Amino acid sequence: MAITEAETSVFDALESQVRSYCRGWPRVFEYARGSYLYDEDGHVYLDFFAGAGALNYGHNNPVLKRALLDYLERDGVTHGLDMSTTAKRAFLETFRDVVLRPRGLDHKVMFPGPTGTNAVEAALKLARKVKGRESIVSFTNAFHGMSLGSLAVTGNAFKRAGAGVPLVHGTPMPFDRYLDGKVEDFLWFERLLEDSGSGLNRPAAVIVETVQGEGGINVARAEWLRALADLCKRQDMLLIVDDIQMGCGRTGAFFSFEEAGITPDIITVSKSISGYGMPMALTLFRPELDVWEPGEHNGTFRGNNPAFVTA
Ligand SMILES: Cc1ncc(COP(=O)(O)O)c(C=O)c1O
Repeated sequence: MAITEAETSVFDALESQVRSYCRGWPRVFEYARGSYLYDEDGHVYLDFFAGAGALNYGHNNPVLKRALLDYLERDGVTHGLDMSTTAKRAFLETFRDVVLRPRGLDHKVMFPGPTGTNAVEAALKLARKVKGRESIVSFTNAFHGMSLGSLAVTGNAFKRAGAGVPLVHGTPMPFDRYLDGKVEDFLWFERLLEDSGSGLNRPAAVIVETVQGEGGINVARAEWLRALADLCKRQDMLLIVDDIQMGCGRTGAFFSFEEAGITPDIITVSKSISGYGMPMALTLFRPELDVWEPGEHNGTFRGNNPAFVTA
């Protein structure tokens, strides 16, 4: 049954024009289980969108829901800033033992604000602080988020225009096969780095998605990623892998870069890390890069403890 004017009116009348996905799915949803969404008229929909990658384990996964309900029922801390809590300790220990150590990663874990773009902002800030340089290299058709720093390394012209201010200190380079294999990988990039007349300021870091999501599902070859990691090492640039969409197992291994056998200096993770669709984000970095001053990157909702429980 089509939605009536009365049912949509509060969305049309009150909610901003900025809303987007709901325009393509003009239904009012009431509950969700596993792969299915149910609207208030009882229609069932197979949810291929899966929270834009935030619902790897489905809607309201019963195992995660039980843990969450138990935690809430015993008045576990919900809002915690960056306080030490039992929920955060359990998450950190599990993440270390299940994800980091088995992969030989000794990265530190930072909780930025609980969105992907916040994890990217933290990554960019840290790279600039460590290297003392402003410039970041990104790739054609990249998507890294909607706040100003992330937009500056995002390709989409429509999204960039929304910034309303110049987006600076980011330089795009061709992603894998952008030039149809006609030009040797990284020929242009390396030439610019080596030529003091090129006009490219020496970058602090390179940020890359191993598989571009929002930019059109463009898969970087493992050898291209390995050559990029090698270039970063030779040219003293930090390698940031934005694993917000392709991490948490979406390409197979937990981290999408594992297949290429590379170890990024900085890794961003979000979307399905909480498992339950709750906001949570991580910025991971090699221990020697941990030059933050206490509170230098802050945020009220960094300690989303119910998300730590389901994560
Ligand atoms: C690769 C990548 N980075 C960053 C983001 C931004 O995440 P958020 O929308 O949680 O800010 C996204 C979102 O789609 C993404 O796909």
